[in-house]
Amino acid sequence: MNHACAEHAAGGELLRTPGKKVLTPVQHTLLIPLVARALGGALYPGHACGDEQASRLLQGLPVDGRAYLADRPTVLNVLWRTRLIRDVALAFFAEHPKAWGLNLGCGLSHYFQWLDNGSNTWVDADLPEVMALRRKWLPAQPPRLRAATVDLQTEGWWQRLRLPQRALAQPILVVCEGVLMYFQPDEVRQVLQQFAQVAPPGSVLVLDTMARCAVGQAQWHASVGRTRAQFHWGISQMQELTACHPRLQLRQSHSVAPSHGWMGVAMEAMWNPWGQNAPLYGLAELVVQ
Ligand SMILES: C[S@@+](CC[C@H](N)C(=O)[O-])C[C@H]1O[C@@H](n2cnc3c(N)ncnc32)[C@H](O)[C@@H]1O
Repeated sequence: MNHACAEHAAGGELLRTPGKKVLTPVQHTLLIPLVARALGGALYPGHACGDEQASRLLQGLPVDGRAYLADRPTVLNVLWRTRLIRDVALAFFAEHPKAWGLNLGCGLSHYFQWLDNGSNTWVDADLPEVMALRRKWLPAQPPRLRAATVDLQTEGWWQRLRLPQRALAQPILVVCEGVLMYFQPDEVRQVLQQFAQVAPPGSVLVLDTMARCAVGQAQWHASVGRTRAQFHWGISQMQELTACHPRLQLRQSHSVAPSHGWMGVAMEAMWNPWGQNAPLYGLAELVVQ
């Protein structure tokens, strides 16, 4: 990682965990959605998500968010996905009020501010360095909001979450946003398979996807390029998400393109001319049979 560039982009203090470890490029990408949720509503009032936690957090951090705010398409993408994930989660908990939700690769996001219904439980999970940052910058833990350390790129990551039996006695909601595009395809398959094997029927996984043409192109991305992280996974067909396990079913797929107006729709049509049905950037809801 080019430390000088990263320090310039985000301020030195945040880039080190409380144990003084430097964040990796992929860990560093957590600033992109944080800034979008904290400040992006002023640019796109119609898409604002009212993320008070992000706004408060960013005020306290030694980070200049303006660099990320300049990348407007990404700000809009994050606001769009945040609202959509929130809506999917609210509908899920309306149906299963006592269920558990799990945010894999949570970064510094805080969905429970919107989802706490008084009886559900939420688990925020990420790599140890990021969870150390959360402890430092998001210390207040309301009841039924838990924290866990997870490395999704290792086998048996689900077991190491040590979810109690009661969490799996009913469907569970899993969110994984802004994470899997940085993994190798085999690693993504392993995450999906693991979820499909263990999650109770009716469980839902919400994840975001990029088209395969984005793989290897992160250096041209206005925000991700600054972090030196790279995209390794993308899809051409939505069926690729469910092909790895018979219990997985695609419930719904969403494209961000219409949120960008006719230009967004035209661009998507241009990039996907050969019957590819995956959006350039979108969200998928997978359900376990
Ligand atoms: C772009 S950020 C997204 C953060 C959060 N989901 C959000 O939308 O605000 C990518 C996140 O993936 C996490 N991540 C990367 N590799 C991971 C792994 N092997 N296991 C768990 N989390 C990982 C990073 O630490 C980082 O927090």
